Amino acid sequence: MSNKSNAPDAPTRNPKLVAWVAEMAAICKPEQVVWCDGSKKEYDEMCDLLVKGGTFIRLNPEKRPNCYLARSHPSDVARVEERTYICSANKEDAGPTNNWAAPAEMRTTLKGVFEGCMRGRTMYVIPFSMGPIGSPIAKIGVEISDSPYVVVNMAIMTRTGTKVLEALGDDGFFIPCMHSVGAPLAPGQKDVSWPCEGDISRKYIVHFPETYEIWSYGSGYGGNALLGKKCLALRIASVMARDEGWLAEHMLIMGLQAPDGEKTYIGAAFPSACGKTNLAMLVPPKALEGWKVLTVGDDIAWIKKAPDGRLRAINPESGFFGVAPGTNMESNPNAMLSIQKNAIFTNVGLTDDGDVWWEGMNNNPPAHLIDWKGEDWTPGCGRPAAHANARFTAPASQCPCIDPEWENPAGVPISAFVFGGRMSKDMPLVFQAFNWAHGVYLAATMGSEATAAAIGQAAMRRDPMAMLPFCGYNMADYFTHWLNVGRRVSNPPRIFRVNWFRKGEDGKFLWPGFGENMRVLKWIVDRVHGRGFAVESPIGWMPRHDDLEWKGLDYNEDTFYDLMAVGREAGTMEAHAHEELFDRFFDRLPKEFTFERELLRSRLWRSPDRWELAHEE
Ligand code: OXD
Ligand code: MN
Repeated sequence: MSNKSNAPDAPTRNPKLVAWVAEMAAICKPEQVVWCDGSKKEYDEMCDLLVKGGTFIRLNPEKRPNCYLARSHPSDVARVEERTYICSANKEDAGPTNNWAAPAEMRTTLKGVFEGCMRGRTMYVIPFSMGPIGSPIAKIGVEISDSPYVVVNMAIMTRTGTKVLEALGDDGFFIPCMHSVGAPLAPGQKDVSWPCEGDISRKYIVHFPETYEIWSYGSGYGGNALLGKKCLALRIASVMARDEGWLAEHMLIMGLQAPDGEKTYIGAAFPSACGKTNLAMLVPPKALEGWKVLTVGDDIAWIKKAPDGRLRAINPESGFFGVAPGTNMESNPNAMLSIQKNAIFTNVGLTDDGDVWWEGMNNNPPAHLIDWKGEDWTPGCGRPAAHANARFTAPASQCPCIDPEWENPAGVPISAFVFGGRMSKDMPLVFQAFNWAHGVYLAATMGSEATAAAIGQAAMRRDPMAMLPFCGYNMADYFTHWLNVGRRVSNPPRIFRVNWFRKGEDGKFLWPGFGENMRVLKWIVDRVHGRGFAVESPIGWMPRHDDLEWKGLDYNEDTFYDLMAVGREAGTMEAHAHEELFDRFFDRLPKEFTFERELLRSRLWRSPDRWELAHEE
């Protein structure tokens, strides 16, 4: 940490950065300005400060060395999509799926809420790099925040500090990311452990796509406050990617290594809460001996055409901000091993011996703990120990299956894109798009069911490319951009749809999921290398039963046919529903999509009531 003063002593000569920090300090009126250097010493000092202030509880150093627990305010527990804005000059450029506000009006509003908002607090300046420093795909951001919790989380999730300022240099470009928890302190006022703006209508997560700027006010949690993640790496980066000809996607990146050492990288997009982190760190079943999964990233991929004409991807983040509940040694042993030390836990339960616990961690809940709200908890008390969106923050370098190439500045070559929602009916386990345009269509029409607990019934939300809450511009233009990217690269990645969540008549999942998903991924790898077999179905290329590897899994063949069946009526209704989605985009919708929908309808029209793969003798 350096220079507890104002901008004149800044550890950079970048005039834009120095001027911006001075301007923000003048608006927010903090007690002091601190430039973060990203050192271990600084991290430890900040954690001590958070412990002293009551935000952090140090966990038992024998059980969780260098780990901390934070409990947020019960009203500040997740991203606030309804308070998230894309402020483009023209409303149409934000598109029908984003909240829009006129930039000038929003600037006036923001000026009002930010005025004096850091009184009594320290303003931290956090230079950070999304992607390995110096990578041709990386971008530099600077977050200003009055939250020390943000400083330490950013230190795990991104590369921060002096080395970033060095890379920025005197005239480098950075994305300004302005953040305040929105809780100024009056002289002598005692702070609370989780300051934030309690009135939801005064929270703002704002993006100015034309000027590449982010302003976030009122929340200290997750994607609202760690601005490198959803705000920069997806919403603003998607706009930069359109402007510069690359892709910023809500995708995990994984390497699939065959027994002979051949490595195939894929990017996979799933809506929030569909198990991306689990898939990214999958442990193949023992029977698939020699296969290995290597993780490059679990949430975001930046993908660019390399000099050889192929698409290469980097993970812009350097940590995991994973959902804790449901994570256990079976569902994701690699995540469990990644959070043994140097991790931050937010809104999980605290056991009497100073460790953490959450629903689904194991089958033996402790007899007593302190829940995420700080109250006594016993099994059967009727309240959850952890909030459903409780998180762990852990360095990616601690993941046992991290890919040796994960920090390669050139990225890893991508051979396939996989898209999957959560669909209990009608959507087969896996199929391959006929070609790039068809694949983009499949990705754009992806749907996912909300869980019954959240909205009372299994309603489906269309979530194109899993980017619905994260695309910083009109999604119709985004579809066109995707179509163009495929035309510009040599040998574009093959595109697949998957669905791990189809259920039978009895309401039970038809597919075991987790490690067994490796069987599907192996078929995808085979297809990519031109050696996997498939038949043409009305909706895409499909594996027959014998095209998947079944060694070590006793899986009923008839169940497989149920899992893969395509109903004509359901398929036709689905194609009809695409029209409703597309109508919203009006004349900006790419023409290709209209034709793809008609082709799909014609193929279904000529198919049997229930299209099934041919049963083998
Ligand atoms: C996330 C999300 O937190 O997608 O990654 O919501
Ligand atoms: Mn995500």
